[in-house]
Amino acid sequence: MSKPKVFVTRIIPDKGLNIIRDFCEVDLWQEELPPSRDALLKQVQGVDGILSLLTDKIDGEVMDAAGKHLKVISNHAVGFDNIDIQAATDRKIPVGNTPDVLTDATADFAFALMMAAGRRLIEADHYVRDGKWKTWGPMLLLGTEMKGATLGLVGFGRIGKAMARRAIGFDMRVIYYDPMDKKSGAGFNATSVDLEALLEESDFISLHTPLTPATHHLINSEALSKMKPSAVLINTSRGPVVDLDALYEALKERRIFAAGLDVTEPEPLPMNSLLLTLDNLVIAPHIASASKVARDKMSWMASQNLISGLKGDRLPNCVNPQVYSQR
Ligand code: DGY
Repeated sequence: MSKPKVFVTRIIPDKGLNIIRDFCEVDLWQEELPPSRDALLKQVQGVDGILSLLTDKIDGEVMDAAGKHLKVISNHAVGFDNIDIQAATDRKIPVGNTPDVLTDATADFAFALMMAAGRRLIEADHYVRDGKWKTWGPMLLLGTEMKGATLGLVGFGRIGKAMARRAIGFDMRVIYYDPMDKKSGAGFNATSVDLEALLEESDFISLHTPLTPATHHLINSEALSKMKPSAVLINTSRGPVVDLDALYEALKERRIFAAGLDVTEPEPLPMNSLLLTLDNLVIAPHIASASKVARDKMSWMASQNLISGLKGDRLPNCVNPQVYSQR
């Protein structure tokens, strides 16, 4: 019997890829960069399944280019804003994602950014390498301490809660804003507040919300103007949640103390971005989930979603379960 055909849009860890290879005829995009739009539209023709990354825009046009055999789209990410879910649902195509397995890796990295930005770690590294270190100085590179600081979490889902758990160990006060969950904070020593109070009271603000029309540029110049001058802003969610022009102005004028970004709009950030001239910004290339453990688990989970969809079984992690009630 012939194997189902799938297009895998980039090399993923063997943990998942080997399982997919056993079960499917795999067309694997081997380049470092994602397939261009034209290449994507071509490569998906006639496939039964697509394993996509967050860098691939999977909309109705791509689904139609794949054609009538397309049974499943498995996204190698917990976020799925790169996929037109309505278009998939309209075509009765289940879409899978990889929740939870990257929760701890992402929360660890958000904490790393908090400490690096708050304690000026990258600036200090450059200071030493640039030959500026002459002596120990009582006023040298002073930063923000974690103990007793207020951590404001925007979004209190899995990663927000993992942040709150870590904050307990740092003796921080935790407040959070999440319109969908005002109750579960008690179990995490965290208090639900409105967004305004969070912006005004927090020493560290960390974003853990999906990108939706409601969260697009949630952190804009108005939101930044409400933050303390000592505030440190961290974004490991999606780039467009922060208006980067407004953030640049706030950082340049020292209206907030520092920021740590793992995600930007666009990605990659152009090399001529003015943000890259700032010493109070720590930046990383969207690697919060990039622990070996998390990426292995993501690839495994994405393979399970893909294969379940190809078999006609329910995806273990499906973001549009309404496709099953339509059947
Ligand atoms: C995700 O899975 O959505 C992350 O952004 C990948 O790091």
